Amino acid sequence: MEDSQFGRALADLRDIAARQSAAQSEAGRLIVVSNRVAPIEEGQPTAGGLAAGVLDALNDKGGLWIGWSGEIASDASRILPERQKGKIRLQTLDLSQADYDEYYRGFANAALWPVLHYRSALARFTRADYAGYQRVNALFADAVAQSLAPDDVVWAHDYHLLGLADALRERGAANRLGIFLHTPFPAAAVFMTIPVHAQLARSLCQYDLIGFQTETDRRSFEDYILREADGHLLPGRALVAYGRVVRTGVYPIGVQTDDIRRQAEAPANCPQMARLRTSIGASKLIISVDRLDYSKGLSERFRAYERFLEQNADQHGAVTFLQIAPPSRSDVETYREIRLELEREAGRINGRFAELDWTPLRYLNKGFARQVLMPMYALADVGLVTPMRDGMNLVAKEFVAAQDPLDPGVLVLSQFAGAACELKAALLVNPHDPDEIAQALEQALVMPRDERRDRHAEMMAVLRRNSLSAWRDRFLGDLARRA
Ligand code: UDP
Ligand code: G6P
Repeated sequence: MEDSQFGRALADLRDIAARQSAAQSEAGRLIVVSNRVAPIEEGQPTAGGLAAGVLDALNDKGGLWIGWSGEIASDASRILPERQKGKIRLQTLDLSQADYDEYYRGFANAALWPVLHYRSALARFTRADYAGYQRVNALFADAVAQSLAPDDVVWAHDYHLLGLADALRERGAANRLGIFLHTPFPAAAVFMTIPVHAQLARSLCQYDLIGFQTETDRRSFEDYILREADGHLLPGRALVAYGRVVRTGVYPIGVQTDDIRRQAEAPANCPQMARLRTSIGASKLIISVDRLDYSKGLSERFRAYERFLEQNADQHGAVTFLQIAPPSRSDVETYREIRLELEREAGRINGRFAELDWTPLRYLNKGFARQVLMPMYALADVGLVTPMRDGMNLVAKEFVAAQDPLDPGVLVLSQFAGAACELKAALLVNPHDPDEIAQALEQALVMPRDERRDRHAEMMAVLRRNSLSAWRDRFLGDLARRA
């Protein structure tokens, strides 16, 4: 047998072994743990990619989902009884005020989130918050341990739970434990601005598999472990660090393209659309949908739109920019500041350009259910998605999937969103450059239909390949596989 054939045969054998091992692990149950759980009832806005993605992934396959109830307990934090919702068993926890303040509002969202998004200057770290973070990770571990059987697989999500595996190992769990980071993982030097970076990295390495959205994120983590944690690489790219073998992988989270297009066209969603269509009249529509978060680049985007209006007087009255921005984490100081800034900026831009019959910028400070958002995306001529940094940005993918393939809108996308690694046929822009965004808007608004179709088809091919089920199955397959 030739070498290459032999290589292929060996690869096939490995693949079979891996699939067998994945199948064996499917005998064990899947336990998903995340801070945020989606509203399970239909029609509620989820306003977060994690909850939307996990809900879709679990709806299909079933499993136990453990997470925060969203409620503050009147006294101590507590684990509530399990409930069955369709195929999903749901177990939630109420957090005490102190746990909420120190873990969620404090360490997770005032210290970790800004650093993971390359905004160290906004980070507020206290040791008390970190102690609260560890305490709540231990509480989540208690909830998992209550129902953990020996061959169950635990899939943790995101930066809230970097310490979960550590807490589970302390409780004697020898199970396969994996975590998927929905956010970016920053360059080592940035990660090291977190005073407890070494403890966090050590805890992370208690997982068997760490999943990232992009190769850049994975490399940053690897680089940190190799240079700062005395780790080394094994053939096949597993890492040895802190006396353990930990694997890493890239699993870009996807969307359910067919469902999205169906929702975009659903007649039940038309009344809201009719109102929007009537109100914008003949003008073209630019749409943005983001949680109100400084990482989303909203102020910079408003400035870029202002630049576009300055430079394109002929477009006055001919275009409307709709920014949907549901409030998020509004009890964290930096989030209150961005909200005030945006209200001021929206008022200023409208004051400068509005006419009796034209409001150039519509800024809606509320969330919409996804089935209402999808037809809005489909109606829009341009999707403007310009985060300063984003793990993935599902809105970008949803916008593409919602379009009519025969007459699609154009996606203008930040090069610093994880989605830019896949959606190369979008108009990619640097969110720090208002002139470049303004130019991209001009180009998008006049783009010929053939070019729009070609770009859309190219992006849809990627979205179909990297679907939500591919994300889930690849991660769980790798988690089940022996190192
Ligand atoms: N979303 C929603 N209603 C809203 C705004 C957003 O359901 O009013 C959903 C949106 O459709 C997407 C998710 O929230 O599925 C946002 O995910 P993304 O990855 O874009 O950003 P994140 O909020 O997770 O940072
Ligand atoms: C991002 C994070 C998620 C989080 C979501 C909404 O997607 O990666 O972990 O759930 O934002 O934020 P929230 O703080 O409301 O859960």
